Amino acid sequence: MAEKWTPDSWRSKPILQVPEYPDQQAVTDVEQRLSTYPPLVFAGEARDLKRQLANVAAGRGFLLQGGDCAESFAEHHPDHIRDFFRVFLQMAVVLTYAASQPVVKVGRIAGQFAKPRSSGVEKKGDVELPSYRGDIINGIDFNEESRVPNPANMAKAYRQSAATLNLLRAFAQGGFADLEQVHQWMLGFISDSPQGHRYKALADRITESLSFMRACGVDSARVPQLRSTDFFTSHEALLLGYEQALTRVDSTSGDWYATSGHMIWIGDRTRQPDHAHVEYFRGIKNPIGLKCGPSLTPDGLLELIDILNPDNEPGRLTLIARFGADKVFDHLPQLIRAVEREGKTVVWSCDPMHGNTVTANGYKTRPFDRILKEVEAFFAVHRAEGTHAGGIHVEMTGRNVTECTGGAHALTAEQLGDRYHTHCDPRLNADQALELAFLVAENLKKERDGRREQLAVVNG
Ligand code: PEP
Ligand code: CO
Repeated sequence: MAEKWTPDSWRSKPILQVPEYPDQQAVTDVEQRLSTYPPLVFAGEARDLKRQLANVAAGRGFLLQGGDCAESFAEHHPDHIRDFFRVFLQMAVVLTYAASQPVVKVGRIAGQFAKPRSSGVEKKGDVELPSYRGDIINGIDFNEESRVPNPANMAKAYRQSAATLNLLRAFAQGGFADLEQVHQWMLGFISDSPQGHRYKALADRITESLSFMRACGVDSARVPQLRSTDFFTSHEALLLGYEQALTRVDSTSGDWYATSGHMIWIGDRTRQPDHAHVEYFRGIKNPIGLKCGPSLTPDGLLELIDILNPDNEPGRLTLIARFGADKVFDHLPQLIRAVEREGKTVVWSCDPMHGNTVTANGYKTRPFDRILKEVEAFFAVHRAEGTHAGGIHVEMTGRNVTECTGGAHALTAEQLGDRYHTHCDPRLNADQALELAFLVAENLKKERDGRREQLAVVNG
């Protein structure tokens, strides 16, 4: 019998990756205030996402999850949100077209502020300071004052999340995402790249199909699915005091939901079964993600699945594999086999970013070919196991940054300094993100063709 869960039962468990606030009373005051603020998302929306993810788990759809490694106060600008949304829609169209299946769109946005760190301190020369833990906690500037955790940042992150979400809802529902606009989503700086040309060719085909359908009496004025899209938000729920303050009872079901975002996930560093983060997550009903890195064993995974999804509810749990390009074959097959053997229903997603971080020319970066290699390996393993490669999880931006090396423009380590803006990990720029989407699309086509062949065999 599981112990009783309450929104604060995590407080009696061991916890990792927590800031040391100098004034605990000030933290409690902010959390108290936040607990009276409106929820950012509605439980019914989280349930809708869970239903869509249940379809993905059943092999009928694909999850596209992506956004900043860390949102920041400094980069809060409508143009950044718009450009991110544009490239995200482009990726989604490329994937939908290839898979002939719905693509579930989940941003790492409107709440992605708290960062786990591999070290509690950062050293520059002789100076050692507490690490930056994300704008919701402290400041990125390398000086003592900025690194002191400030509870007021929680309220600021909440306000920024609300404003970001408001604009995203307007984009998703207000006409920007209308398929008739498929050419307009192109960002100026990629229109002349190989990906830009490939995208334009695809957009031409879609526009032609839409003209045909319009002639048949079907158009976006009549069919809401062509005019708008579902877009959901997600983040790593690392700062549990903030999450608790936004945990609310849903009046229609009586269940507890995290209302800080539609989907939240547990990071690779905080997934200990008897610790605070797993305790918090087991009690909320949102769809959740679990990062699965190289240290996770099959038995360890099954133990976590039993705690986090005891009723084996489809759509509840997305396993986000992040091993590193060379380690996928060593780890993923055994995890998939354990899940299959025990009859657990999950979405398998691939994060090709976090196992492929290296340092080059003094910058934290990720070689684009390693990212592609991890995605290819993920698909190859699923093909071999006969399971559905259900999604990708990427760090990306709509801006023309120089943070990951490689890609069609063969970005070199020497060029990283040109436009290196990330507050934490290196992101794909719009061009690289689109290139990745085309690679995933090819793999989805293979999966689709494989299924057709199987059907043909079954039907004789
Ligand atoms: C992240 O997604 O930014 C992250 C820190 O990932 P992980 O927990 O997989 O290292
Ligand atoms: Co990251």
